[in-house]
Amino acid sequence: MWREAIGRLAEERTLEKEDFLVLMEELPREGEQELFRRARETARSVFGREIYVRGLIEISNVCRNNCYYCGIRRGNREADRYRLSREEILACCGNGYSLGFRTFVLQGGEDPAQDDRWVEETVAAIRMRYPDCAVTLSLGEKTREAYRRFREAGADRYLLRHETADPVHYAKLHPAEMSYENRIRCLWDLKELGYQVGTGFMVGSPYQTLDTIWEDLQLIKKLRPEMIGIGPYLVHHGTPFAGRKNGSMIWTLRLLAIFRLLYPEVLLPSTTALNTIHPEGRSLGILAGANVLMPNLGPAERREKYELYDHKRSTGGEAAEGIRLLETILGKIGYTISASRGDYGEHGVH
Ligand code: 5AD
Repeated sequence: MWREAIGRLAEERTLEKEDFLVLMEELPREGEQELFRRARETARSVFGREIYVRGLIEISNVCRNNCYYCGIRRGNREADRYRLSREEILACCGNGYSLGFRTFVLQGGEDPAQDDRWVEETVAAIRMRYPDCAVTLSLGEKTREAYRRFREAGADRYLLRHETADPVHYAKLHPAEMSYENRIRCLWDLKELGYQVGTGFMVGSPYQTLDTIWEDLQLIKKLRPEMIGIGPYLVHHGTPFAGRKNGSMIWTLRLLAIFRLLYPEVLLPSTTALNTIHPEGRSLGILAGANVLMPNLGPAERREKYELYDHKRSTGGEAAEGIRLLETILGKIGYTISASRGDYGEHGVH
């Protein structure tokens, strides 16, 4: 059963629901190794052994939203809030640039103080100073007009996970003032405005089932994002989901492999959450088909405050030593860091 399922996935790049269930539920160890092997061979045929790095700057942990899973939700009184000034952000970019980063990801909560105009001007300032760099935003749900202005100012990419493609599940993860419809509206607006779009979901979030994950796959098939970000759901003690179970690393890795086989050219990060749930999660993700890492370039003293989940691990890379350590870790599994911007489609399928 599983052999045929992997064969169809790897050779025809299609996945029927039955095969999907086999791969998630009935894969023996040997089958899992085969799935990961096919996925990493596919990644190598497109990207070689180069891993793209994106410098992540967590610009604010102030958030007007109250998502039940997230540690920086509005309702978490314990969170020690901070926001970076434009000058601090530019300094992070400068540090990243000298370390070789050519793409910066500004990620943050939906902080009302960093309003549309502020974001627009910040993007413009980065573009002015680093014209050869790509700017990615990951700042949540905005109006179409705001997304248009950010794009005009020079933002190239936008990351917004859909979190779940099942509206009923969505309502169990978010308070009533948030809507699945608006999330999806945002994603289509971003696509239409010409962004390279990243979406994705947490694996093992409360109330998630294989049926909802299947819906995630169907949404991704329709949207055709340039990047798919997935990582295990991890509990945060200051949320309504405190005391729940963490998501599964195994399922995360299998899903990475499935996405790699379905979409050979898609950008697949090996996420911080994956590296938090397992000390070698980052490498395991790459060996299951991931091809992107997002080391944190933010100021060290702020980093631990951007606590989406408990025990969040800091991905080295922020300092020169961090980058060397990352190179050593990648070297052990036979990979190197790419010097390119890593735009989607840059490699083409070989
Ligand atoms: N565990 C794992 N991932 C989380 N995120 C938010 N909270 C958690 C958590 N507790 C993810 C969401 C969000 C991204 C920035 O981080 O998917 O889109």
